[in-house]
Amino acid sequence: MEKPYILPRRASIDKPLRIAVFISGSGSGLNALLNYQQTPRAHITKLIISDNINAHGLKYGYDNNIKTKIIPLPDIFDKNRQRILHEGLINIELINSKVELIVLSGYMRILTPSFVAKWKGRIINIHPSLLPDFPGVHAHRDAIQSGVKISGCTVHLVDSGVDTGMILAQREVKIIPGETIQTLQDKIKKIEHEIYPQILDLLCEGQYHPMS
Ligand code: GAR
Repeated sequence: MEKPYILPRRASIDKPLRIAVFISGSGSGLNALLNYQQTPRAHITKLIISDNINAHGLKYGYDNNIKTKIIPLPDIFDKNRQRILHEGLINIELINSKVELIVLSGYMRILTPSFVAKWKGRIINIHPSLLPDFPGVHAHRDAIQSGVKISGCTVHLVDSGVDTGMILAQREVKIIPGETIQTLQDKIKKIEHEIYPQILDLLCEGQYHPMS
């Protein structure tokens, strides 16, 4: 049975929630969040984790003097053990940095159900489609190929499924004739960068209520 969501404590500018941001690639969403947090908020980024040693987004952690850890998948054959070991290493960093909320901002790995169970209600994901439509790693391609006229982004709590947890907010963009994966991605990233720091404000200020 799925565990219920346990949301983070209600935070304030004086006692901000300690956030870890997980990335795998360019990190434009991380950059947007760090810019947003230049003004004091009820959340503050204390740790950045990348599974990818070459992630461009690592730069934003270093430039902002935030603890930034590269944790690649351990080099072992058994895929299950590999995932569990990897998440064990990540969990140690989360505990060491007293993290209270995890933000998946372009993190391209699926978390195991046991990791999600430990943090359920305290992991949010940004996905570049209007979920439940087009989950997975090819959201833009799938949206364009399906012929829909509208796509967008979703901010949601993570559960043990793939891109399935409780939706916190969505924003739409139009798909225009001649749209490419690149142009759609650029448009959607722009709205993601506006919406998700604001949703973090609401979550940290206790404005969402859990459903199981
Ligand atoms: C973002 O568009 C985010 O929604 C997407 O990856 C991009 C990361 O961009 N996430 C997923 O597809 C997760 N399934 P960034 O590295 O420039 O922030």
